[in-house]
Amino acid sequence: MSANHTSIETLRWVGDQDGHLVIIDQTRLPTELVEIELRDADAVWEAIKSLRVRGAPAIGIAAAYGVCLGLQGGGECDEADFWRRLDEVTAHLAASRPTAVNLCWALQRLKETADQHRGQESVALRAALLAEARAIHDEDRQMCRAIGRYGAELLSDGNGVLTHCNAGGLATADYGTALAVFFAAHEAGKRLHVYADETRPLLQGARLTAWELQQRGIDVTLICDSMAAQVMREGRVQAVVTGADRIAANGDVANKIGTYQIALAAAAHEIPFYVAAPTSTFDLSLSSGDQIPIEQRDPAEITHGFGRQTAPDGIQVYNPAFDVTPARLIRAIICEKGIIQPVSEASIAAMFADKPSCS
Ligand code: MRU
Repeated sequence: MSANHTSIETLRWVGDQDGHLVIIDQTRLPTELVEIELRDADAVWEAIKSLRVRGAPAIGIAAAYGVCLGLQGGGECDEADFWRRLDEVTAHLAASRPTAVNLCWALQRLKETADQHRGQESVALRAALLAEARAIHDEDRQMCRAIGRYGAELLSDGNGVLTHCNAGGLATADYGTALAVFFAAHEAGKRLHVYADETRPLLQGARLTAWELQQRGIDVTLICDSMAAQVMREGRVQAVVTGADRIAANGDVANKIGTYQIALAAAAHEIPFYVAAPTSTFDLSLSSGDQIPIEQRDPAEITHGFGRQTAPDGIQVYNPAFDVTPARLIRAIICEKGIIQPVSEASIAAMFADKPSCS
């Protein structure tokens, strides 16, 4: 692994319509930087499910390319067969993980693209789908930069900032959402000190965020999740910035488990809590966060999380992968269109009037 790896390419499509997807296998970081090739939709499903590719925007991009892989092969096929396969592949990929809405948003975009080309030969339809997947990928790069620019304005030189999970380059097509704010502030000459929560049980903060910030030369200190309130009490943190997996119409935010308790601690210490997320993470069909589906994961992630058993045999385990932070605890949401503040149904509706809902 290179000691100064500054450009992380989380996913890339290689070749044309008969090409394949290459991703960084994030389960192997931080000790190994390894790419793997995904050559069919099942491999993409497995990579999303097992968090080889993870983070809401990256999941959406991977799923879009997964559709292209699922429709490959055999040149021209009859129309009914094409539409049947499209339905099967999108339904299969949609079932890989339930919380990040970017997944269903990207799949919906591909289905709409196919609809717009209805009646054309399947070769042309497949070309249109690959072009749309590439567009989603490109837009995500621009989104990261715009979020960084808006969010950097909220931070001051010398600030201590805290983040949870990984909302960086590994979770997106460019340099992240929450971490984009830090990177852009850093580029603007603001010196920051980042506290990265380790993010139990799967340690995305320790394995991925700490690694990514280190690679880019940002001053970072790793803490256990249970230390966040004490770090705030000691006056080390002037802002919290996290990403999001789904944002309801009223501004409630689902993000990695543990985010809610950090927002509560930030409120208790009068520290602004910001969420950085693209418009593709909003689900305006849900009126509140109560309706956001929360992924439940394997108990073994808690009982055997460190490569060995850390809990007694037969113990009952509850392992929700995400929680919901109510809008009232969020000072502002930074998206690629600007800053939403206050966080309310009205301000979100005003910013996103043109965004279709995810069905
Ligand atoms: O389970 P994960 O690792 O996919 O969870 C990721 C998060 O919770 C991120 O904060 C979120 O997806 C935003 S990524 C820009």
